[in-house]
Amino acid sequence: LLKKLGHRSIVLVGIMGCGKSTVGKRLAQRLGLEFIDADSEIERAANMTVSEIFAEHGEPYFRSGEERVIARILREGPQVLATGGGAFMSDATRQEISEHGVSIWLKVDFETVMARVRRRSTRPLLQNPDPEGTMRNLLAKREPVYARAALTVTSKEVPHETVVDQIVITLA
Ligand code: S3P
Repeated sequence: LLKKLGHRSIVLVGIMGCGKSTVGKRLAQRLGLEFIDADSEIERAANMTVSEIFAEHGEPYFRSGEERVIARILREGPQVLATGGGAFMSDATRQEISEHGVSIWLKVDFETVMARVRRRSTRPLLQNPDPEGTMRNLLAKREPVYARAALTVTSKEVPHETVVDQIVITLA
């Protein structure tokens, strides 16, 4: 699998709460690759949290930083990269990913995602009076784009380890 990957990274995409970070960490461990979380890299580069960047500079500023950080990370592959839920919406980022990585969509249903983000959400996009409506809109807009990932793994209410197994089998 590693030989097949070469310098390409495994890039996890999907809506917030789909398990990109948890699955990504375990997958990286399993394969002996480095795990990188794009949001954490953006926070490090900006020396601010994602919420602070949204609040102080707005979403477009965050998105251009996100594009730059992901493009840089992809040049340092192979690694396992968890992207933020909006990253794959960028044409430039999808292009970078197809050149330097293998994209995997972790597909989850609405209920699973809402249960997860309700438990822990500092996500700026959901800090409004109707997070459920926001999530439905985001899913409707984004799912057709996530579906353009090279591979799709359905990550319902199954242990993250099962998702990792599925990815390893699918990529092998
Ligand atoms: C976002 C998802 C977040 C983060 C930012 C915007 C989005 O990442 O990048 O809050 O647009 O869906 P996670 O998917 O890791 O929560």
